[in-house]
This record gives sequence, C-alpha cells and structure tokens, in this order.
Amino acid sequence: MPEQMRGVIISHTPLGEEYRELTVRARGMPPAEPGQFAGLKVSKTRDPLLRRPLSIYDQGPGDGMLRFLYRLAGKGTRLLANFREGEDVDLIAPLGRGFSLEGLTPKSRALLVAGGVGAAPLYFLARKLQEKKVPITFILGGQRAADLSFRGKIAAALGEGLAITTEDGSLGRRGLVTGPLRDLLGEKQGFNSLHIFACGPGPMLREVARLAREMGEFPLQVSLEAVMACGFGACLGCVCPADGEEGSEAYRRVCKEGPVFFAGEVEL
Ligand SMILES: Cc1cc2nc3c(=O)[nH]c(=O)nc-3n(C[C@H](O)[C@H](O)[C@H](O)COP(=O)(O)OP(=O)(O)OC[C@H]3O[C@@H](n4cnc5c(N)ncnc54)[C@H](O)[C@@H]3O)c2cc1C
Ligand code: FES
Repeated sequence: MPEQMRGVIISHTPLGEEYRELTVRARGMPPAEPGQFAGLKVSKTRDPLLRRPLSIYDQGPGDGMLRFLYRLAGKGTRLLANFREGEDVDLIAPLGRGFSLEGLTPKSRALLVAGGVGAAPLYFLARKLQEKKVPITFILGGQRAADLSFRGKIAAALGEGLAITTEDGSLGRRGLVTGPLRDLLGEKQGFNSLHIFACGPGPMLREVARLAREMGEFPLQVSLEAVMACGFGACLGCVCPADGEEGSEAYRRVCKEGPVFFAGEVEL
C-alpha cells in the first residue's frame, strides 16, 4: 500500500546541466518494485498543487533510503532542484504497478532499452535482475552525450553490459537504441527465454514493440509516462487507450494499472 511520508534529503547532486540525483531517507518506506514511482510535493506552497511523479531509481541500503534520477523538465522539477540536503520532502510511495520478473532465471536474457531519463526505472530493474543472476544488456540512448550525463552509476553497475547510442555519434554507437536491439534480437543462441523492458519516448516504445513482435514475439514490458493529477487511480487524469478494446471502459490508468504494461495491453 502506498503511504504518504515525510522524507529527509540526504543528498541532491547535479549530473550535468539537466539532471539531478536525489537521495531521500523516508523511514518506514515499504519495499518497492522496479517500475513503481513516488509522487513528490515539489513546493512548500500550493503552487504547483499537483505532485510530480518520479520513478524509484534505487532503494536501500538501509531503512527508507530511496533514490530518484530526474531531468529538469519545467516548473515543478526546477522547484524540486532547489531543495537542499537536510530539508524535508513530502512524498507518496510506492505507487503503481512495477515490472513483472516472472519467468526470468539465470538462463534467460534481459534486454533493457532506455531513452534518456527512461533509464531511471530500468536501473532499479537491472539491480534486481542482477540479484537474480539474470544476464542483462542495458541499451541507453540519447540525442547527444550531454543527454546521458547521468550514465556513470549505470556504467559502474553494468560494465560491459551497457551499450550506448547517440544520434549525433558523440558517444557510443551512432544512431538509435533500436540498432543494437535489432542485433541482439537476431542472436538466438545461449538462453532459454528473452525478455525486453523499455522506457522512453513514445516513438521509441512503438519501434521497440514493432521489433519485439516482428523478430520473434518476444515478451515486452513498457513503462509509460503520462501527465498525472492524483497519482493513485481516483481522477482518470492519466488514462491511455487499451489496445484492441472499444467502449467507454477501454482505457487504463497509467498511475494504477501501470505505469508498466505488457505490449498489447495498451496502445503505444
Ligand atoms: C510514472 C512516471 C514516472 C516518471 N519518472 C521520471 C523519472 O524517474 N525521472 C524524470 O526525470 N521524469 C520522470 N517522469 C516525468 C516527470 O514526472 C515529468 O518530467 C515532470 O512531472 C515534469 O514536471 P515539471 O513541472 O518540471 O514540468 P512541466 O512544466 O509540468 O512540463 C514540462 C514538460 O514536461 C512534460 N511533462 C509534464 N509532466 C509529464 C509527465 N508526467 N510525463 C511526461 N512528460 C511530462 C510537459 O508536457 C512539458 O512538455 C515520470 C513520469 C511518470 C508518469
Ligand atoms: S493520475 Fe489520477 S487516475 Fe491516474
């Protein structure tokens, strides 16, 4: 069950111009699944009123330690960036449905595909998969090297399991994340099952879904982003169309039934 908590900021670190890593201690925070998120109050006033959803980037070690990785997108995240070490932050967590790890074993292979800060929930997932000894390749893409200024922690955790792409070729392989993904989906040897997990912009998710379908009907889970109001299923502010269904109930709440969906559950 999600809980409203008061956390204390342990550290708040700039990672390049656009990103911040925020570590909060929220004692009593229940264990989160990778893919779940928190709703953070980004201001001490009522402006803005709505909490901002951020994926849980890592949890632990120790009671209540939570990390977030976020991009300065607009007013709310810029206000959050002003919070200093030692200050309180009000949050509700853990929210939503996370990634399913069912069927993943050390004989499986997991391909994690992240566009930009879509890396946040996938990093937490990678840590859990490492605990289960599931072999991982983490494909991380951006337009240019500066878009991936947060990559240090991911590179340290994944080592050679990290493949980077940039559209301008300033870091890693030139092109889109779908380049290495296509190559890896073409390798059919050495594992019993292959699972794909993705988070990033809509066009990237659609292309990943197309490749997963066409190159072998590989199971794919995607984490979606939607503008949210309540964050816990009450307002229908975050709905997306359910795939292949019609009628007034043919939607899913990204905050409640998601943000993680299997491809085929929702229209990408
Ligand atoms: C479940 C979930 C998990 C998320 N996890 C992360 C994360 O780990 N790190 C991270 O950097 N961001 C994450 N986001 C996106 C983040 O919530 C938005 O960037 C943030 O709410 C923007 O608030 P703002 O006030 O700074 O920007 P605003 O001024 O509200 O908007 C600035 C720009 O961001 C877009 N935007 C606003 N809200 C969202 C949203 N919810 N999703 C996508 N685009 C949005 C707007 O359309 C606009 O173009 C997540 C979103 C969801 C739904
Ligand atoms: S944000 Fe209110 S139902 Fe999802």
